[in-house]
Amino acid sequence: MSRVAIVTGGTRGIGEAISVGLKDAGYLVAAVYAGNDEAAERFTNKTGIPAYKFDVSDYDQCAEGVGKVVSDLGPVDVVVNNAGITKDGTLHRMSFDQWNSVIQTNLSSCFNMCHCVIEGMRERGFGRVVNIGSVNGQAGQYGQANYAAAKSGIHGFTKALALEGAAKGITVNAIAPGYIDTDMVRAVPERVLEKIIATIPVGRLGHAEEIARGVLFLVSEDAGFITGSTLSMNGGQHMY
Ligand code: CAA
Repeated sequence: MSRVAIVTGGTRGIGEAISVGLKDAGYLVAAVYAGNDEAAERFTNKTGIPAYKFDVSDYDQCAEGVGKVVSDLGPVDVVVNNAGITKDGTLHRMSFDQWNSVIQTNLSSCFNMCHCVIEGMRERGFGRVVNIGSVNGQAGQYGQANYAAAKSGIHGFTKALALEGAAKGITVNAIAPGYIDTDMVRAVPERVLEKIIATIPVGRLGHAEEIARGVLFLVSEDAGFITGSTLSMNGGQHMY
């Protein structure tokens, strides 16, 4: 029987590539999105993957949304916490809302989604969680105190939950992408982006599909010995 996977932020960018990769590998996929109805409709028409609209920063919406996925597709085996936003600005100009919305959407969403599925995974003795961090959570980034804090938090969350799930067949890993050719990165001012690309040894932005291949590996049955790890996929921009 096909495994059921939820991908948050699953209709655009890196998440779209992950949703499609999982579908092509035989998973029953639910792609979650928060706002862009037009993109979600286009995504579903193109891929045949159902899109579910709810805000992953809101616990009650997650509980309701995950419940819907379970009744449509079955118990959830795989969660990819990919949804993320940027509200860049240097700290002295950053509002509390810029700080808080990025923390809630990028980090609290991991708690919300995992909390809604973890009991079932424990009961069934199998689960795969992949949290999408960032090179900027590992290395820091000018103008991203909020985003770097959230992404860095994801890496700690991953390790703690990995310890809790290990004896129950649940693996929890993170991927830390570098700069990937998506709308989010294209929103960086061009002169800044040029400087950033100059620091990437492979000399280019990454492709969303490259990140998706990492996710596919980590969620596979035979990756059961890998847990609590972070896979850095950044073209050599940051190594540690
Ligand atoms: N790397 C190198 N130099 C940078 C830089 C960076 N990441 N960010 C800013 N700078 C430089 C600018 O080029 C500028 O230098 P010059 O005066 O020599 O041109 C100087 O720092 C000041 O920058 P700004 O003039 O842009 O300052 P600002 O106050 O107007 O804007 C900012 C600040 C909104 C943070 C803007 O600089 C910016 O958007 N920076 C990009 C931040 C970034 O990298 N965001 C990543 C988004 S993608 C993502 O997050 C995905 C992921 O996981 C990798």
